[in-house]
Amino acid sequence: MLITRLRGWDKPGRAVTSENAFFSRRSAMGAFAAAGAVAGLGVAGIRPASAADETASIPASAMRFDPGRPLTPSNVAETYNNFYEFSTDKDLWQMAQAFPQRPWSITFDGMVEKPFTIGLDDLLKQVQIEERVYRHRCVEAWAMTVPWSGFPLAKLVALAKPTSSAKYMIFTSDEDPKVMPGLGGFMPWPYLEGLTIAEASNELAFIATGLYGKPMPPQNGGPIRLVVPWKYGFKSGKSIVKVSFSDKQPDTFWAQLSPDEYGFWANVNPAVPHPRWSQAQERLIGTDQIVATQIYNGYGEWVSSLYAGMPQTRKLFM
Ligand code: MTE
Repeated sequence: MLITRLRGWDKPGRAVTSENAFFSRRSAMGAFAAAGAVAGLGVAGIRPASAADETASIPASAMRFDPGRPLTPSNVAETYNNFYEFSTDKDLWQMAQAFPQRPWSITFDGMVEKPFTIGLDDLLKQVQIEERVYRHRCVEAWAMTVPWSGFPLAKLVALAKPTSSAKYMIFTSDEDPKVMPGLGGFMPWPYLEGLTIAEASNELAFIATGLYGKPMPPQNGGPIRLVVPWKYGFKSGKSIVKVSFSDKQPDTFWAQLSPDEYGFWANVNPAVPHPRWSQAQERLIGTDQIVATQIYNGYGEWVSSLYAGMPQTRKLFM
């Protein structure tokens, strides 16, 4: 018997709107939720996992895929970062405040009908902003749960109009030596990541321009970054300035640095250890609680079919 189950993103009533309207409405909701928390009231549709005002201000529509964990407080998620262009230390957030977020433009090139460059604000006029709470699992075995705002990556694929022979989507991060002291040295800059177009078109793949209902902080990849929640965090390139299409699998930043440790696929799998540490568990930043890691970071229902016909070797998971 065929059973059609309504999946999280299919639920009716998803809230979508422009970026400006989104941020103003969201900040009003934050104020309302904070007032409600003070008065001991709840807000309809709010997940009661935490007393934090931040959790209370998350709209129900953002919880369509319940992460099953409390939100990481913003002051933790915004001060514990990986952004090697600035530093290999996690506390780079102050340094990143000097990173200009406007003007910002993105170039689309390679196997597209017609290459073009577009200002970020003009691009954002063509999309509707929504919010999604996702788990985010770093290959270093720490994790956080945060509300991203942005739009489905599939929308960017549609706007770019790749040719029918394109198979891969490649994301290049900005290089700004005036503010990024980590550039140079032996690392193969710019930071470059990629997905297959099939992966990029999956409903979970997301382009984020905001975090906790505010514009994306520079240290988290502002003004625009990738979010691919079923893969290790290094696949989610930050501060994107170029999106290219190709029929060849790209040689990504981490694969160039250490091909035996960081591959192209990098799907989360607790059963496939990193050569230097186990991936069976993860530490939740903020509480330091240790929890079991889930295959595809718990998003297998949505994404495992992407890999159904492929050899299930460790290469898919590193
Ligand atoms: N993107 C760029 N351009 N540079 C980086 O160093 N680090 C990656 C990814 N994207 C990185 C990047 C890694 S290893 C992780 S875990 C996530 O960003 C961290 O995102 P966060 O700091 O917002 O948690």
